[in-house]
Parts: sequence; structure tokens; C-alpha cells
Amino acid sequence: MEARIFIICVLVMRLSAEDLKEKLKASVGGNITLPDPVMELGFLNYGTKTVAMVNNGKIDIYVDIYRNRIHWNKNSGLFTITQLQRNDSGIYAVDSKKGRIFLSAYKLTVYDPVPGPAVSTVSVSYDSCSLLCSVDQEATLCWYRDQEEVLNRSSHAVSLPLTVLRKDFNSSYKCVASNPAENKTAQVHMETSCSGTSKHQGQDMDPRLRIGLYVLMSILTVAIVLFVFFVIKRRYVDQQTTTTRQTQGRLPGSRRRCNLY
Ligand SMILES: *[C@@H]1O[C@H](CO)[C@@H](O)[C@H](O)[C@H]1NC(C)=O
Ligand SMILES: *[C@@H]1O[C@H](CO)[C@@H](O)[C@H](O)[C@H]1NC(C)=O
Ligand SMILES: *[C@@H]1O[C@H](CO)[C@@H](O)[C@H](O)[C@H]1NC(C)=O
Ligand SMILES: *[C@@H]1O[C@H](CO)[C@@H](O)[C@H](O)[C@H]1NC(C)=O
Ligand SMILES: *[C@@H]1O[C@H](CO)[C@@H](O)[C@H](O)[C@H]1NC(C)=O
Repeated sequence: MEARIFIICVLVMRLSAEDLKEKLKASVGGNITLPDPVMELGFLNYGTKTVAMVNNGKIDIYVDIYRNRIHWNKNSGLFTITQLQRNDSGIYAVDSKKGRIFLSAYKLTVYDPVPGPAVSTVSVSYDSCSLLCSVDQEATLCWYRDQEEVLNRSSHAVSLPLTVLRKDFNSSYKCVASNPAENKTAQVHMETSCSGTSKHQGQDMDPRLRIGLYVLMSILTVAIVLFVFFVIKRRYVDQQTTTTRQTQGRLPGSRRRCNLY
């Protein structure tokens, strides 16, 4: 009994020291293989509990919840835990007692699986295309161009927008959803995603062309107004001239004024 407590104390002390070799990450439903082999005699521990023993080329599993989930490969000597659940997270230790003797501990974290991202087209205009990447559970979302260039990024997001200018349409784009353990990618085909025309017709027009049209229409309006103004004025002046002619001699001042025209 005392010896056992002593061994556990030593184990805990050793685990808390530099023996924690690696952090391992996996997703729910996935597998993890612990990297150190037990070839002849050894144990697999979870926390301070021994969950399996290897001896004489076979494995004995002591803990029910691991019964069909811990596999030991006789050739490689490696342990694999399958069908991982979130509550499988914790410290695992591989304790080899014969041949190569060592104790290696690993901190395993099991994450919820990464949802697959989906990309939808929000709007297409003359010079750009707006895309939205979405997932049905929170994840880290990131937009990439040409494999590595990060264009937009958000952790703990359910959606992330991206606006691509038409001049950049020939690059390749992808949206990646990730957790620390894995990632999933949605590739975007710009030709298919951004070929559609927008519902708002005006948006399809080159903005320069649109400004040009506005200017042209303004000039036309001013020209018409001026034309109408001069026509009316000419009529009025004609009328004045006729009146002046009729009253010539009596109003010298107005003749002088009319001569100005
Ligand atoms: C997990 O291991 C099982 C059995 O070894 C295998 O059938 C399955 O494909 C593995 N799954 C993953 C995600 O590696
Ligand atoms: C972990 O969760 C699973 C179900 O998700 C359950 O069956 C199992 O008993 C749990 N294990 C522990 C150690 O609580
Ligand atoms: C990046 O995302 C933010 C919102 O999270 C958005 O406002 C911004 O326009 C996006 N950037 C690009 C280049 O699309
Ligand atoms: C995209 O097209 C431009 C010219 O329109 C060109 O300069 C550029 O190299 C092209 N990029 C790729 C990735 O094809
Ligand atoms: C996605 O995961 C793969 C391995 O499955 C890895 O090689 C790649 O670098 C990861 N990509 C990102 C963007 O995290």
C-alpha cells in the first residue's frame, strides 16, 4: 500500500516536472496516437490512473470507458485512442518498464469538430464582388488569396465577409474554418460565384460612365434652359422693338437702348 502511494506520488511529481513532453490536439470523434512506444512491458496512464497495461505482446484495459477505444500496435508499440470525446482531454502518460525505459506525458485537448464552411455571393457589381463565408457553429474563419495571403480573419465567428475587386478576380480564394486541432476549407471559383449580375441595374454600369452621363445630362439641361430663356427674351425684345418702332420719336431713350441689341 505504502509503496503504491509512493509510486503515485513519484508519478505525479514526475508528470508535473519537465516530463510533459507534448501538447496533443484532436477533434471529437477523431483518433490520437501517442508518439512513444512500449515494446515489452509498460503502462498507459490517464492522470494518476492506470488505464492499460502491455505485457507479453498483449494489452489489458482496466477502465471500461476505454474498453474498445484504446488500441496497441504490436509492431510499432504505439497506443491509439479512438472515438475521442471532449472528456478524454487530460494528461496521458506512457510508462515503459522494460527495454527502453522512460515515462512520457502528453496533454491531450479534444475540441468540437470544425464545421465545414460555405461561401455565398452577397452581391456582384461592376467592379467588385462581395462574398460571405459561414459556418453553423463558432470557429476561427480566415479568407486566403493564392493559398497563403490572409485577407480577412476572425476568431469565434459564424460568418466573415470578403470583397474582391474585379481586377483581382483571377487570383484563387478560399475560406478556412479551423480550431486548434483541424481545419476545413471552402474553395471559391470566382467565375461561377461572381459571374451573375446584380439585381440593381445601375450598379452594373462603370461608375466613370455613370458620372459622364450625369455631366452630359446636366449640360443638356442647362443648354435647354438657356435656349428657352433666349427664345423668350428674343420674343420679348421683338415685341419691344415693334412697340418702340410704333412710338418712334416720342421715346428717344428707348430707341437708344434698343440699338444696343
Ligand atoms: C480511427 O481509428 C479507426 C480504427 O483504428 C479507423 O477505422 C478510423 O478511420 C480512424 N479515424 C480517424 C479519423 O483517423
Ligand atoms: C465522457 O462522455 C461520454 C459521453 O459523451 C460518456 O459516455 C463517458 O462516460 C464520459 N466519461 C467520463 C470519464 O466522464
Ligand atoms: C473583413 O471583415 C470585416 C468584418 O469582420 C469587414 O467589415 C471587412 O470589410 C472585411 N474585409 C474585406 C477586405 O472584405
Ligand atoms: C491577373 O491578371 C493580371 C492582369 O489582368 C495579371 O497582371 C496578373 O498577373 C494575373 N494574376 C494571376 C494570378 O493570374
Ligand atoms: C490545415 O490542416 C492541414 C493538415 O490537416 C495543415 O497541413 C494545414 O497547414 C492547415 N491549414 C491551416 C490554414 O491551418
